[in-house]
Amino acid sequence: MTRENILQFPAGFLWGTATSPTQVEGHIENEWTHFTAQDGSNCRIACDHYHRYPEDIEWISKLGMNAYRFGIEWSRLQSAPFAALNRNELARYVDILDRLKAAGITPMVVLHHFSNPPWINAMGGWTNAAAIPAFVDFVSRLVPVLKDRVYLWNTFNEPDTYACLAYLLGGFPPQRKWKLGLFRKVIGHMARAHAQASRIIRRDGNAGREPEVGIAKNWTFFHAYKRYSPWDRLTAFACHYTFNKFVLDAFLGAGRRQASTFIGLNYYGRVRFHHFRTMIPASGTPVKRLKDFGFVCDDMVERYPAGMVKILSYLHRRFRLPIFITEHGAASEDENFRERDLREYLAALHGAMAAGVDVRGFFYWSLLDNFEWQFGYAKKFGLLAVDFADEKLPRTMKPLADVYSRICRTSSVQTGEKVLIG
Ligand code: BGC
Repeated sequence: MTRENILQFPAGFLWGTATSPTQVEGHIENEWTHFTAQDGSNCRIACDHYHRYPEDIEWISKLGMNAYRFGIEWSRLQSAPFAALNRNELARYVDILDRLKAAGITPMVVLHHFSNPPWINAMGGWTNAAAIPAFVDFVSRLVPVLKDRVYLWNTFNEPDTYACLAYLLGGFPPQRKWKLGLFRKVIGHMARAHAQASRIIRRDGNAGREPEVGIAKNWTFFHAYKRYSPWDRLTAFACHYTFNKFVLDAFLGAGRRQASTFIGLNYYGRVRFHHFRTMIPASGTPVKRLKDFGFVCDDMVERYPAGMVKILSYLHRRFRLPIFITEHGAASEDENFRERDLREYLAALHGAMAAGVDVRGFFYWSLLDNFEWQFGYAKKFGLLAVDFADEKLPRTMKPLADVYSRICRTSSVQTGEKVLIG
């Protein structure tokens, strides 16, 4: 192996992993509690991270990571609008943060990840503008308590995915379909809530270090499979316009940029259209069949590492804000595939950084195999496997965890080498 194969990342780069409350904690009362996923499962226990977080934090530390992005579940902390925060639940999150601190792990806290308290859902969720002051109140109570322990705040995770699946495609509760007006309303309300929450975080969250605030934007490239198919091109453009352009403008466009000090980017890959159909495993086309078309996919979407450079360069040119890769990962039972995928995306990330894009960290999705929303437990994104057949839910390391651990410890990635695992 030659030295050129080793791509070194800058000192202080954050290497972490990410989870969300509904997907890992269990024992939550929100709109997902009574939702049945396509595989017949539910999230009522999930990975029981609610009780097993000390062990999970030890894993993060053992794997050599220096950062962890996780959510604080609003529904645990407030039982009614403008209510005081639940002390016991708050103490549990404080304990998570204290354990992370003791292990030298920097937390990034997510305040909204696809779930709401039941009383927010009862009033129409984010279609109702009353969700804005309620969320801002939650944030204003939380920030002073956590400010000594948290400086990286991620207000909304993928508002685009949330609003799309809840109000256009019907995959997420409340499972409405083709309500474009509601989609736009939800995005507009969340963007206003982000701006107001950001003001509070920056005003009340400074405990010696300037707090950083941003959303996590999912970026998917939408392309036509055949370049000259006008209908597929039009469909791809409509998706790009609705999910990328409209949402980015709502949160960061004219006059709104100052509400963020960073951009979180969740980047997985691309979706191509063929005769109006989305050519991805997540919409039911098997990975093997897509291979015949020349597509490389995990169990969700097409892999497109070159897109990492494109989107990072675009965000950098347009907004001049630091960026965190708040999520990237692959769902597959093929660990060699996942290793290749990770190296390719990190090589692309390194290339973008070498060209001048200011990226501060990378969070692998996800620490654990977990509840993948409408798909249940069928999609395996974890660095650690969870044995859901065993009621103790034991965690075991997958080969990719070992690979990622070496990357985190050395803050470098080797590319072009022979695959070592399998
Ligand atoms: C979401 C995660 C999800 C992951 C994989 C992102 O869209 O933030 O909650 O599990 O992608 O699909």
